[in-house]
Amino acid sequence: MSPPSVIVGLLRRPPGVARYDLLMSHLELDHWLETVPDATRVAEFVEGPGIRRLSTPRFDVDRLTEELGRVLDAVDYDQSYGEWGFGTLPVTRRPGTDGRDPVDLSGRFWIRPDASYTEIARDDIVDEAGYTEMLPEFEGTYFEQIVAELREIAPIGRVRVNTKSVFNCNSWHRDPEPRLHIPIITNPGALFVVNHHCTHLPADGSVYFTDTRGYHTALNGGDDPRVHLIAALAI
Ligand SMILES: [Fe+2]
Repeated sequence: MSPPSVIVGLLRRPPGVARYDLLMSHLELDHWLETVPDATRVAEFVEGPGIRRLSTPRFDVDRLTEELGRVLDAVDYDQSYGEWGFGTLPVTRRPGTDGRDPVDLSGRFWIRPDASYTEIARDDIVDEAGYTEMLPEFEGTYFEQIVAELREIAPIGRVRVNTKSVFNCNSWHRDPEPRLHIPIITNPGALFVVNHHCTHLPADGSVYFTDTRGYHTALNGGDDPRVHLIAALAI
């Protein structure tokens, strides 16, 4: 298949400075060279449409990390990240279930997966309000206290610990409901993108509201895994 004509035109331009000057002049981009891109704020949280840091509650990340380690050891958690480079550990469940059905771990989302740009639905609708019970391994832990405090500010559905391996990215999709994120282990290369906004979420004990009804993804471009506690809102 032949490349589009505009690409053929670019390929035929003579290489070197003349072509660069031509590009700058033609596209009126020379003003971009007057300032150097900021390399500091990209390691911070930057609020934007669809993503906010709540002022309260705040949690003890060291305690959270320590207790998560104890739970992972107790359940002999598989930390190989599976086929897709991420893992999900349920914290809440529907009474009478083990909390590990596919609907517990994934659930309905919409995606435009290919060059047709057509949006399709995947997986089943989840009744978030049904997730009223803690998994036994989290009972009596700091996680139970956190879930109780989150329930004071919002109707909470599924609560999960989501792990993301290095150099991994979720699909670009939208969910039926917003989510609250509490980063536990992270690095500056772990980013959240919602609509056209991209930011890092530091593990500073904060709760971050993410309106995941908009298109979003999470990625980990760092050398270490990223771990977030994530609570879906039962709306
Ligand atoms: Fe999502």
